[in-house]
Amino acid sequence: MRAVTYAEFGGPDVLVVREIDVPQVTADEVLVRVRHAAVNPYDIKIRSGMRKEAVDFSSPMVPGLELAGHVVSVGSGVSGLAVGDGVFGWATSGAHAEYATARVVEIKPDGLDWETAASLSTSGSTALRALDALDLKEGETLLIHGASGAVGSLATQIAVANGIAVIGTASANNGDLVRKLGALPVLYGEGVFDRVRAAAPQGVDAVFDASGAGVLGGSVELLSGRSHRVITIADTSAGQHGVRYSSGGPQRNTREALRRIVRIVQDTAIVLAAPRHFSLEEVQRAHEAVERGGTPGKVLLDLEQDALPAVEMSPPVSC
Ligand SMILES: NC(=O)c1ccc[n+]([C@@H]2O[C@H](COP(=O)([O-])OP(=O)(O)OC[C@H]3O[C@@H](n4cnc5c(N)ncnc54)[C@H](OP(=O)(O)O)[C@@H]3O)[C@@H](O)[C@H]2O)c1
Repeated sequence: MRAVTYAEFGGPDVLVVREIDVPQVTADEVLVRVRHAAVNPYDIKIRSGMRKEAVDFSSPMVPGLELAGHVVSVGSGVSGLAVGDGVFGWATSGAHAEYATARVVEIKPDGLDWETAASLSTSGSTALRALDALDLKEGETLLIHGASGAVGSLATQIAVANGIAVIGTASANNGDLVRKLGALPVLYGEGVFDRVRAAAPQGVDAVFDASGAGVLGGSVELLSGRSHRVITIADTSAGQHGVRYSSGGPQRNTREALRRIVRIVQDTAIVLAAPRHFSLEEVQRAHEAVERGGTPGKVLLDLEQDALPAVEMSPPVSC
């Protein structure tokens, strides 16, 4: 199969599309023929070596977590999934490839389009996890740093739908988007907390940092030291500020989390910015687009569905 690979940490130019073997499923995995795979900031952090400690580097690495596609093989211990099912979720073998193994996937409902399905797993479950941890009450005011981003824009809409007043920071270009999501936009950068105070004279009750832009100290100060009501998903200095860092991982990236985000997206008429599409061969440009930031909408790699040769599957492996 064709897959994006890299043999060393570095810039987007380390990414090479190569022919490699189709990964084998273990007993608790399915093999997915990938239709769309998202490129996330996490993929950039891993590829660049910024989060070296988070991976077991084995060459060649195949990047990518979020995928949507069809099940083509099912491990012997998997129940509730069958060959031919359309699914979305998290890859275990690297999603930026024609085929990927996956342990946590959910069946894609008919009413959910493929692009949205490929964009939701990480951003949606992360937004929900952070909002849950803040234990917000109707009528409270929440500041979201990075409200125009993939996670921030979902968190904004979910909070607003639950009767929370949201102040959302963004660049000047994305202020209108944040307003459309139902929040009061505030320009990020120098002086951001003065602008937030002016926008929320009633005060702010909680802060969700979905930007990682060095805003934790100012956020704790904004809440007069109530650091337990600040959460970040992107700033590893959280501990220094007495702030919780919320991360994903196997305990939290569950099928139930996927089911929950789909229910919310469908019931609450959540809107996602249009994605930007790249082919597998354009993966370097796709990474550059994520690194540049500033443009709403997920970056998706599209895998051709017709041109793939049939893959001869080994029988399911027990282990
Ligand atoms: N811990 C976890 O489980 C987890 C899960 C998912 C993501 N993350 C991390 O969370 C972060 C956001 O992910 P994402 O997918 O939402 O990324 P994204 O779509 O690129 O969004 C980034 C957001 O940050 C804003 N931003 C950029 N520069 C800023 C600055 N100087 N000050 C304040 N805001 C700024 C952007 O605003 P503009 O676009 O308007 O410039 C945008 O709203 C990434 O670091 C990612 O790695 C962590």
